[in-house]
Amino acid sequence: MTLALIILAAGKGTRMRSDLPKVLHPIAGAPLVVHAMEAGKPLSPERCVVVAGHGAELVRKRVLAHDPAAEIVLQTEQLGTAHAVDQARAALQGFEGDAIVLYGDTPFVSAKTLGDIQAARTSGADVVVLGFEAAVPGKYGRLVVEGDRLTRIVEAKDATPAELGITLCNSGVVCADSATLFDLISKVGNDNASGEYYLTDIVDIANADGKRCVAVTCDEAETLGVNSRVDLAAAEAVFQASRRRQAMEEGATLVAPETAHFAYDTKLGRDVLIEPNVVFGPGVVVEDGVELRAFSHLEGCHVGQGSIVGPYARLRPGSDLAEGVKIGNFVETKNAVLAKGAKVNHLSYIGDASVGAEANIGAGTITCNYDGVLKHHTEIGENAFIGSNSALVAPVKIGARALVGAGSVISRDVPDEALAMTRAKQEVKPGLAAKLRARLLELKASRKK
Ligand code: UD1
Ligand code: MG
Repeated sequence: MTLALIILAAGKGTRMRSDLPKVLHPIAGAPLVVHAMEAGKPLSPERCVVVAGHGAELVRKRVLAHDPAAEIVLQTEQLGTAHAVDQARAALQGFEGDAIVLYGDTPFVSAKTLGDIQAARTSGADVVVLGFEAAVPGKYGRLVVEGDRLTRIVEAKDATPAELGITLCNSGVVCADSATLFDLISKVGNDNASGEYYLTDIVDIANADGKRCVAVTCDEAETLGVNSRVDLAAAEAVFQASRRRQAMEEGATLVAPETAHFAYDTKLGRDVLIEPNVVFGPGVVVEDGVELRAFSHLEGCHVGQGSIVGPYARLRPGSDLAEGVKIGNFVETKNAVLAKGAKVNHLSYIGDASVGAEANIGAGTITCNYDGVLKHHTEIGENAFIGSNSALVAPVKIGARALVGAGSVISRDVPDEALAMTRAKQEVKPGLAAKLRARLLELKASRKK
């Protein structure tokens, strides 16, 4: 079925009390509107039109960054949901296929539910509305159903006491043939309690027109909308719970599932072990058999098969670990490529660097990548050994199988197999410690008198 998504994202989100447009507030590292776009993805929509209003420029940037093929249309005044959809009319002029309306602040509509909606369309409904049994119907629009037909949607503000008793509520998701949808919308007026153009009115209009409208239902959790920071936190919790379950179902062990924090795009292989309090930022790919030990933070990185990371490690964007790499406690990497079997086991910073296979980076090694103005690269050859507490002042190259003595400050290239060290030569004075101590003790005794 040829399909266009229309995502309503013009609302201000007053209750967020934020300078950021509501739909740009993130869940799992991605803005709400991106979640809405992703929700529609399983249907392989041909077009994706986002209706922006408040903070439209920011919304445009973020939406296009996620999908350059998406289209943004402007709703300069928020005159209601039908008016919002109407802003997509010009963009979808001549589009042949169905249109599905989603809300930019409602991130969790499932692929199965969208499939059910399409199935209802295929089996002859002209207009399909997604409803749910609300635990607390409150301000939701109510679906008035007779037999298997949806006859009307009544907004809570306009409802009679009897209608308010209906628990089947409107999610806001609507699907119809695109031309039909815009045709129905052009007949919507604003003579109601809010003085708004209600998208929900198309059901009444379609029925009067002899068209068939039906309601498809889903779990209330799928229609969870975000209106406040409290809602945002609740939505985050829902996302995390479902992502953790998915990770375990796909073959990862989560030692303390409730403490693992995923990003919307985290990719995990099989037999990945995730210890407590591991946090994923966006853009992380973890291959099979990796151990992510407690309190590690990963973002924009690739962790090769069988690598061990942490505890307390931080992999920043551009970190690329090949197979069997070891990154130990209090190690930070950034824009660093580590070849097979490389080890950075303790207290190091490896930034803007490449580390050869089986190289061993001693405790406290720092790549000094920044001169205060520019960033520079450090290259460490295979099987090189960097002694503890060394500073590698970039740009610098340490050859393969080279050895750097502990405590060195290396600012010139070290050839393959060479030994480099910069610390001052050590002096040893036999017996001097004992003499010194005796003198100090004498001094102390003389002061007490
Ligand atoms: C709407 C539905 C209601 C449903 C509820 C579900 C209508 C008339 N009512 O009510 O039946 O139960 O959603 O949450 O459709 N928006 C725009 N431009 C506008 C108005 C709204 O982009 O001019 C966007 C909002 O940003 C939001 C969505 O459309 O994402 C819904 O708008 P909202 O004002 O929240 O509608 P409700 O009154 O909640
Ligand atoms: Mg609402």
